[in-house]
Amino acid sequence: MPPADTQDDDDARRGGDLGAVLRAARTRLGAAGVPSPAVDADLLAAGVLGLGPGELRAAALRGTALTAAQASALAALVARREAREPLQHLLGSAPFRGLELLVGPGVFVPRPETETTAGLAVEAARQVVRSGRAPLVVDLCTGSGAVALAVASEVPSAVVVAVELDPAAHAWAQRNLDAHRSGGGPGAGAGERVRLVLGDATSAEVLAELDGQVDVVASNPPYVPPGAVPREPEVRDHDPALALWGGGDDGLLVPRGVVARAAALLGPGGFVVVEHAEVQGGALRALLAPPSWEGATTHDDAGGRPRATSARLVQAPVTHWPA
Ligand SMILES: C[S@@+](CC[C@H](N)C(=O)[O-])C[C@H]1O[C@@H](n2cnc3c(N)ncnc32)[C@H](O)[C@@H]1O
Repeated sequence: MPPADTQDDDDARRGGDLGAVLRAARTRLGAAGVPSPAVDADLLAAGVLGLGPGELRAAALRGTALTAAQASALAALVARREAREPLQHLLGSAPFRGLELLVGPGVFVPRPETETTAGLAVEAARQVVRSGRAPLVVDLCTGSGAVALAVASEVPSAVVVAVELDPAAHAWAQRNLDAHRSGGGPGAGAGERVRLVLGDATSAEVLAELDGQVDVVASNPPYVPPGAVPREPEVRDHDPALALWGGGDDGLLVPRGVVARAAALLGPGGFVVVEHAEVQGGALRALLAPPSWEGATTHDDAGGRPRATSARLVQAPVTHWPA
C-alpha cells in the first residue's frame, strides 16, 4: 500500500475523491509557503465546485468524487496559488465590510486593516446624519472602490466621491460600482451613490468644486518607503507599484499630499482619516497638528496594530499642493 500522501497525489490526478484532493492541495500549498494552506485549498475547491464552506466539508466527509474537469480546474488554480498568485485574484473577489469586491491584476486587493479606516469614516458620516444632514464623503486613492462603497452601503444618505489616479485601478473601481448598482445583495444601490473620478488625489484642481464643503475625507494611500520591499510575493509581485510606494524618503509624499488636499476639501470641523504603516502614526499625527487640526488620534486595527490616524479640521489653512 502506498504512503498516505502518495495515495492522495494519485487520487488528485485521477479526479479522485474530494477529501484526498483537498489533502494533496493543502500539502502542496503549505510546502510553497502559503500562509494559510488549508483555508486557501478549501476556498479554491469551494469556488470550483460552487459550494459554500459547510457544503464543502460535508462533501469531503461523504467522499464525493470530482469529475475530471473539476479536478483539472482545481489543479490549475492550486498550481497558480503555489506560484503565489494572490488568492483573491484566483477567486476573482475579496470581502470588505460585508461587500464582495471584484479584484484582479491591476488593482490593490483590499485588506482587513482598511476595514478599520472605512469604519472610522462610516462613524464620522453617521454623526453628520445624526445632526440632520446628508454627509458628503470623499475617498482619496480609492483603488477597487472599497472605502467609498463601504461608506455608501452603510450610510445610505451619504453622497460619496472617489478619486483614483491609475486607469487600470479606476476600471476595477468602475466594475465594482456597476456590480453594486441594483439587485438584492449586500451593498445593492451603493454604486449609484458613488461618483468616480480619474485623477491625482493630491492635485488642487481635482474636486476643486468641493473645496470647503466635504464632511469626511478617508484615504488609504500608498505609503511604503523606498527600500522597504514587501516580503510576501503576493504583495511584491502582484499589487500595483502605484498602490505601494508612497514616494519621498519616508514613503509619505502621497499621504502628505492627501492631508493637504483634505485640509482644502473639508469644511470646518470636518473629519479626516488616513491609513498608514505601523511606524508612521507619529508622522501622521505631526501632519494633523494644531492650529489647523485638532484631536489627532492613531487607531488600532482589529489585530491591535496602529494603522490609521484621524483628526478634525479646525480652520481651513491656505495650502499649495504640489509645492
Ligand atoms: C494602497 S492602495 C489602496 C486602495 C484602496 N483605497 C484600498 O484600501 O483597497 C492606494 C491606491 O492609491 C492610488 N494612487 C496612488 N497615488 C495616487 C494619487 N496621487 N491620486 C490618486 N490615487 C492614487 C493607487 O493607484 C492605489 O489604487
